[in-house]
Amino acid sequence: MTTPQLRLAELVTVLSLATDIGVGIPMEMMLASCLVSVRLGESLRLGDNELREAYYLALLRHAGCTADSPHAVELMGDELGTFRPWIGASPRQPLQIMNVIWRGIIDQSKPTLKRVELFLRSMSELPLVAVARCEVAQQLAARLDFDSRVQAGLRQFGERWDGKGFPQKLKGDAILLSVRVAQVAHDAVILHHFFGAETTVAAMRERAGVTHDPAIAEAFCGRAASMLEMPRSLREEVLACEPGPRRLLNDAQMESATRALADFADLQTPFSTGHSPAVGALAEEAGQRCQLPDSEVTLLRRAGHLHDIGRVGISAQIWGKSGPLSEADWERVRLHPYYAQRILAQPQALAELGMVACAHHERLDGSGYHRNLPANMLTPVMRLLAAAEAYQAMIEARPYRSALSPVQAADELKREARAGRLDGDMVNAVLAAAGHRTPEVRRQRVADLTEREIEVLRLVARGLTNLEIAAQLIISRKTVSRHLESIYGKVNVSTRAAATYFAMQHHII
Ligand SMILES: [Fe+2]
Repeated sequence: MTTPQLRLAELVTVLSLATDIGVGIPMEMMLASCLVSVRLGESLRLGDNELREAYYLALLRHAGCTADSPHAVELMGDELGTFRPWIGASPRQPLQIMNVIWRGIIDQSKPTLKRVELFLRSMSELPLVAVARCEVAQQLAARLDFDSRVQAGLRQFGERWDGKGFPQKLKGDAILLSVRVAQVAHDAVILHHFFGAETTVAAMRERAGVTHDPAIAEAFCGRAASMLEMPRSLREEVLACEPGPRRLLNDAQMESATRALADFADLQTPFSTGHSPAVGALAEEAGQRCQLPDSEVTLLRRAGHLHDIGRVGISAQIWGKSGPLSEADWERVRLHPYYAQRILAQPQALAELGMVACAHHERLDGSGYHRNLPANMLTPVMRLLAAAEAYQAMIEARPYRSALSPVQAADELKREARAGRLDGDMVNAVLAAAGHRTPEVRRQRVADLTEREIEVLRLVARGLTNLEIAAQLIISRKTVSRHLESIYGKVNVSTRAAATYFAMQHHII
């Protein structure tokens, strides 16, 4: 089965889901903001290019949300819980903004004196956090090959219509029209989510001429109800309404995109910098040593890049704790592969990659998370990625422990294999890939079948249908058919019973 090519818009919608949880709002909020931007842009008769800019700017609005997270944590504590008070503050009332910072933004768990210090720092440093985020968003857009106008637009989200924004204090028409449209759509969608339709319209009218272009704010308010009405399948609707040409990502662009998303996730904490590409590279090397097909090696590398994309939905405050995590913290940590699964569930071009990525904390004895999958649900690539991720994490320092030496990490990984939590063959492959001396890792191929073909054959022999096999191995029905066709070719038989007999002869079952 050939994997369909990924559209740029599909990739950016995936990123937008990650940025939603990365700023502490429910998934699909930036999709909603994108749809409202397009509706607003059409009602204002924007040109094709500006409409396309507004579309992508809305989706990429928070693409820099992981920049400067440690700084944000220092000021705010749980940086993911501050969106509601912030968006609700009226820009016309400086005292209200100061009150929101004092009561809703800065870390409330600190003693009063410390809070006073944080408050004073926040007044000057919060804009810097926002500027850093805009800059990182712009850099990410550059890596995704967006043109200079989209990149420039991402640096203008802190600007205000009245010229009192940052970083350049641009005023009125000096701010790109596509940015002004996306600003109105963004605030309207978020206000609507937190405070309802009535408050949203009142707030947008109040902000007209202050933070927002008055003509655009009025265009929204005049048709607020229809602007904010969301379809059942928001993602499909957003993909369907992409203005202009639909760009497909070629192989090199796909590679660059998964690397960019890896860096986006790793940037959230200083100690995770470089973690995801390193996992991808280690898993790739181990996969080659296992003689996996090229397609599975590529899958491994990219799943390594994206495996921790869901971590941005957990506060950097939790990741950065130097002591043991509380039960509540652990519950949140266990969510990060679930978030990855949700983020990567669509489109089809990413679905298989997503299933592998989100299984990186699963263990063969069912003790892993987030689904506690048993061994027979863990495919070779999932097992390999789990071993590679575990090794790579061990040799990196964390706030609660020093980095293990490569020898210590290898011993620990072997212990995990002996305890039945990690696959011994995969551990050997990972250790060999990491430069350790290990037993021969070249996997002996039974009857020249790949690992995946053997797994399919085992399930055929147990009487499962193609559909059931596909569900069990979390692959498509077409992939099962392809594997079966190749097995039948190799054993030169045409019936399932003969294939089963063949499997028995070779001790595959
Ligand atoms: Fe993880």
